[in-house]
Amino acid sequence: MKTLQQGTAMVCKTSGVILAFLCVSGVVDLQVSVDPDTVTEGQSVTLTCRTTCTLSKTPAFIWYKNNQRLSFTSQQHQITASSGDAGRYSCAIQGYGILPSPAVTLSVQYAPKHTSVTVSPSGEIEEDSSVTLTCSSDANPPVQRYTWFKKTGAQPLWIASRQNYSINKIKISDSGEYYCQTWNGIGTGTSPPKRLDVQYPPKHVKGSVSPSGEIEEGSSVTLTCSSDANPPVQRYTWFKKTGSGSSERGTGESRTITNISSEDSGQYYCEAQNQHGALSSTAVTVDVHYSPKNTSASVGTSIIQEGSSVTLTCSSDANPPVQRYTWFKKTGSGSSERGTGESYTFTNISSEDSGQYYCEAQNQHGALSSTAVTVDVHYPPKSPSLSVSPSGEIEEGSSVTLTCNPPVQNYTWFKKNESGVWLTGSGQSLNFSNFRSWNSGLYYCETENTHGTHNATTKLIMKDRRREEHQEREREEQTHR
Ligand SMILES: *[C@@H]1O[C@H](CO)[C@@H](O)[C@H](O)[C@H]1NC(C)=O
Ligand SMILES: *[C@@H]1O[C@H](CO)[C@@H](O)[C@H](O)[C@H]1NC(C)=O
Ligand SMILES: *[C@@H]1O[C@H](CO)[C@@H](O)[C@H](O)[C@H]1NC(C)=O
Ligand SMILES: *[C@@H]1O[C@H](CO)[C@@H](O)[C@H](O)[C@H]1NC(C)=O
Ligand SMILES: *[C@@H]1O[C@H](CO)[C@@H](O)[C@H](O)[C@H]1NC(C)=O
Ligand SMILES: *[C@@H]1O[C@H](CO)[C@@H](O)[C@H](O)[C@H]1NC(C)=O
Ligand SMILES: *[C@@H]1O[C@H](CO)[C@@H](O)[C@H](O)[C@H]1NC(C)=O
Ligand SMILES: *[C@@H]1O[C@H](CO)[C@@H](O)[C@H](O)[C@H]1NC(C)=O
Repeated sequence: MKTLQQGTAMVCKTSGVILAFLCVSGVVDLQVSVDPDTVTEGQSVTLTCRTTCTLSKTPAFIWYKNNQRLSFTSQQHQITASSGDAGRYSCAIQGYGILPSPAVTLSVQYAPKHTSVTVSPSGEIEEDSSVTLTCSSDANPPVQRYTWFKKTGAQPLWIASRQNYSINKIKISDSGEYYCQTWNGIGTGTSPPKRLDVQYPPKHVKGSVSPSGEIEEGSSVTLTCSSDANPPVQRYTWFKKTGSGSSERGTGESRTITNISSEDSGQYYCEAQNQHGALSSTAVTVDVHYSPKNTSASVGTSIIQEGSSVTLTCSSDANPPVQRYTWFKKTGSGSSERGTGESYTFTNISSEDSGQYYCEAQNQHGALSSTAVTVDVHYPPKSPSLSVSPSGEIEEGSSVTLTCNPPVQNYTWFKKNESGVWLTGSGQSLNFSNFRSWNSGLYYCETENTHGTHNATTKLIMKDRRREEHQEREREEQTHR
């Protein structure tokens, strides 16, 4: 009241006696009228500063909005309302600014503005986590209805009608663009779309081998790992299964093995990894094909008796397994085929079967022969026989060959003439390249095996030209124990 009294005194002093008189009881008594006091944006509003005082002349007015001074000074002011014009208005008379009118509120209503979507928690969204989308908007009156949509191919999909849309265990299929619409009775607001990118560790990890099908030793093979992951797989690791576990074989989405060897055969798998986890593929088989290796032949029995059953066995490492085994016996110059099959059996072996045998293993990629094994048939006592070549008369200076059969390991040759018994050689045959008279005599071929010693005998007599004698050739064969 004291302030008003002083104010009144001031008014009286400066504006004249009449003014002072009229306002003594009502003070300056300013009132703001806002008409209408509630508008929607774009409508026109009239602000008037009223007083019950009779003003002698038109004074300048001061306007305040929320206690901030405004630029216009007229008693009445018209504005086209915008949301920014909302507030509490008061006025005063220039020079009496300390005595403003009570404030009157102008309320401006408007359709939702700045409609936006926020996601909480912010940052990466992992599969199975919980996410809340919040729709916010600046609106007067406040938003009465919220509507959520998800963008889909043809038209948006209605999702929910509330301010906050929560997804409890978010799925990959929840990824996409979301937006909200708000309505407050004046109008609607639409937010810009917000993208939800649901991240997840690798899924559907798959290993593959290229080329598929047969892999030949020496060729190149590429292993490729594929996976679905968000963000994309950061690291692929390849493993090969070993007896107990596995061993790492390099990294990279694809891995090429050049000049592949049989040792590279096996089960391979890959592991795909991103920041959310890792997953392994099932194993893929790398089956390297190769022609037979390490072919070897073996004899089942160490001491072979004539008449017994003997089996030769061939073994070889091959992929695919050996398709055909062939058995050969070495002959003087080459070899002769004796049969097929992984094993070759003599049911009633005879001494003629003695010799060197080898096998050949074959698959679709090639063939490899073994080294030869010796089949040494032991036979019971048997008379050796001697043959002379050429047969017929022996001319001086001619070539003569004596051959002792059957083939055995050791031979001893003796010769008997008038002068005595002479050791004349070893080996299956005895050769004379230039036969002389003193080569004549009785020849013995002595053979020996575990069962004893045996002799074969023949007489070699040279034709005597000078005496024109009747030529005679005798052959005797004897067998002794
Ligand atoms: C929506 O979420 C916001 C932010 O968490 C919160 O302030 C608001 O109260 C929620 N609204 C409703 C209707 O639950
Ligand atoms: C392929 O590998 C084999 C044995 O592993 C080797 O002998 C050969 O030289 C290699 N070839 C090439 C072209 O590297
Ligand atoms: C060849 O085969 C034999 C008998 O199966 C085996 O002992 C040997 O280790 C093999 N050699 C190679 C080089 O594979
Ligand atoms: C084994 O072979 C010998 C000579 O070829 C023959 O005399 C004998 O009868 C045969 N034995 C069998 C059991 O076939
Ligand atoms: C053959 O002769 C050699 C050398 O004289 C001897 O070591 C070997 O035992 C003989 N073999 C047989 C079966 O008599
Ligand atoms: C003897 O001659 C035969 C047939 O010509 C030959 O096979 C053999 O090797 C020769 N033996 C010797 C010891 O010269
Ligand atoms: C008997 O044979 C030996 C050895 O070949 C020979 O040196 C000798 O001259 C022969 N004797 C006669 C009478 O031919
Ligand atoms: C074979 O003949 C030689 C020479 O006459 C003789 O020394 C040897 O004892 C004979 N062997 C047998 C088994 O008769």
